[in-house]
Amino acid sequence: MVTGGAGFIGSNLVDALILEGHHVRVIDNLKTGKLSNLDDARRQGLGRFEFYNIDVTDDEVSVVIKDFEPDMIYHLAAQADVRVSVKDPIYDAKINILGTLNVLNGAVNANVKRIVYAASGGTIYGDVDLKSLPVNESHLKEPVSPYGISKAVVLDYLRSFRHTYNISFVALALANVYGPRQDPYGEAGVIAIFANQVLKGEQSTIYGNGDQTRDFVFVDDAVDAFIKAQTKGDNLLINIGTSIETSVNSLYQVMCEAAGKKQNAVFESPRPGELLRNSLDITRALIQLGWKPWTSIEEGIGETLEYMSNKK
Ligand SMILES: NC(=O)c1ccc[n+]([C@@H]2O[C@H](COP(=O)([O-])OP(=O)(O)OC[C@H]3O[C@@H](n4cnc5c(N)ncnc54)[C@H](O)[C@@H]3O)[C@@H](O)[C@H]2O)c1
Repeated sequence: MVTGGAGFIGSNLVDALILEGHHVRVIDNLKTGKLSNLDDARRQGLGRFEFYNIDVTDDEVSVVIKDFEPDMIYHLAAQADVRVSVKDPIYDAKINILGTLNVLNGAVNANVKRIVYAASGGTIYGDVDLKSLPVNESHLKEPVSPYGISKAVVLDYLRSFRHTYNISFVALALANVYGPRQDPYGEAGVIAIFANQVLKGEQSTIYGNGDQTRDFVFVDDAVDAFIKAQTKGDNLLINIGTSIETSVNSLYQVMCEAAGKKQNAVFESPRPGELLRNSLDITRALIQLGWKPWTSIEEGIGETLEYMSNKK
């Protein structure tokens, strides 16, 4: 079962599971996800794919889990926007904490043995001292945004449910994931926003001087980690990123080169509270999951641009 399976990462994961021959049931309320993201799953997974338009906080979640009795649940449904969480922390907590508890209760009722959770490597550690970069999983969890808090709190619940009900878990602390199906509108990831603007010849805005760095991991690589977590990484928090810091300036340059465009971004004052640098130590993923990323930023951006230009 995949919650949030109509979303950016979830739908890519569903496709990979269908390709592996699994029977997949998706729960998603289509708040930010799209049914069209599941077109391939519907075609490829004839008879092995079902979609339920339900909110994760709904009582029906338990019924749908019980009726399916999945071997495992990938829990990706979330309010995934930091700025929404700052504006409305109660809404964020309802979906990300209470919704998760609802899914966990459903898992207990249906005797589900394993949960793989999409945690957030970019927010659960908080403002990391530069000396601690790339940050590893043992680092203090001092999230600053309500989203980071809701994502970090779930780690404690996962440990509690493992202790009490023997449900094993893997919590993947994802870096900045990018690639096909990421929504370029609203508060999306910077790569999707830049890609959309560069393709349309629109000017992009860089907040601050552009030297701020992020750890960008391609969605296929992230999905591969979710697949490996079916059988490995028991009861661990595991960072999924590249350990490479890419500055927003160099990202923009790579993007323009890949699109064959010559254009300059405009610079505006930095956004308050924005992290200056970030990257994740991925040693544990290599040891525990046998996972490492294989897509370079140039290749990943190339694929993203190709997907977006075909969509237009
Ligand atoms: N994209 C990233 O860089 C990134 C980084 C770290 C963690 N994550 C986590 O990965 C997961 C997937 O993120 P994404 O980038 O694919 O975002 P997304 O918004 O595309 O996916 C979230 C999905 O959850 C669904 N959803 C939201 N609220 C729901 C609710 N109340 N009930 C049922 N479904 C609901 C949405 O419709 C959507 O399909 C999230 O848990 C997010 O916190 C993402």
